[in-house]
Amino acid sequence: MSAHKVAVVTGAGRPGSIGWATVQRLLAGGWKVVASDVGRPLESHPDYEVAAPEDLLRLGTENPDSVLAVACDVTSESEVVALFAAAVERFGHVDALVNCAGLGIGLTPVVDLTLDDWRVNLDVMATGAFLVAREAARVMSAQGHGGRIVTISSQAGKTGMPLLTAYSAAKFAVIGLTQSMAMELGPLGITVNAICPGTIETPLLHVKGGLYEKYAASAGISVEDYQKRILKFIPLRRLGSPEDIAESAAFLLSDAASFITGEALNVTGGQEMH
Ligand SMILES: NC(=O)c1ccc[n+]([C@@H]2O[C@H](COP(=O)([O-])OP(=O)(O)OC[C@H]3O[C@@H](n4cnc5c(N)ncnc54)[C@H](O)[C@@H]3O)[C@@H](O)[C@H]2O)c1
Repeated sequence: MSAHKVAVVTGAGRPGSIGWATVQRLLAGGWKVVASDVGRPLESHPDYEVAAPEDLLRLGTENPDSVLAVACDVTSESEVVALFAAAVERFGHVDALVNCAGLGIGLTPVVDLTLDDWRVNLDVMATGAFLVAREAARVMSAQGHGGRIVTISSQAGKTGMPLLTAYSAAKFAVIGLTQSMAMELGPLGITVNAICPGTIETPLLHVKGGLYEKYAASAGISVEDYQKRILKFIPLRRLGSPEDIAESAAFLLSDAASFITGEALNVTGGQEMH
């Protein structure tokens, strides 16, 4: 096997996001990284603010030897296949996947949740996670030297939350996907884990119609007061940073985590404990 390790990271194109921080953390650890993001507005929800394509490209141009930037909509089977083909063509092999693509659409009472909003959550965060993890598993199985797959679920993948029906359902699906893949792929030396972040200070919470805005409005208070209020539910009394999640992902990709698989690791400051 060659000296450098190669990771594919999805949902990596937005500065301040968990995917972006994960790319930076892996680069600091000497990894080569294939950074990807959707690269264009979502067909079903063109007004939702996804990562700007130029930010993703910048990751590649600023790190020409160690980053390949590839636009890939994780809901497109052909684009996901092409993503891994590009990774193998550029760096020779793939050792790890960190699945970060996600969104915050349809944050609404369940009686108002539209079928389109339900579908986009399941499409991107459950079906998309499956397509990318399946392709990683195919490539890693063929290579024959094991591998690491990590998908970002959520504390809402462990416990349901108001206004988050579709999001939570998609994140629960990620944990079933993770456990089943872990059992099948363990004998091949491929570990499969999920991370369940708590409230992490990223653009997801702030995009138009994002989580803060919705929760604050439903409580009849300002976003600032809402942010203060949620700290009471976090034993460590702070919000998480994207770097907190990037560190956990780097750990699950490291040799130190070689006996951990099928895990759904809470990184929530104690807000979620099961
Ligand atoms: N921020 C939090 O509090 C929090 C908590 C728990 C879980 N998460 C999860 O962490 C992951 C990263 O979220 P984040 O907080 O960094 O948000 P973010 O919105 O900054 O990053 C998500 C990225 O996914 C990309 N994306 C959206 N649809 C895509 C598609 N179809 N194909 C490829 N990429 C697509 C977006 O363009 C964006 O760059 C998500 O899965 C999210 O659900 C976040």
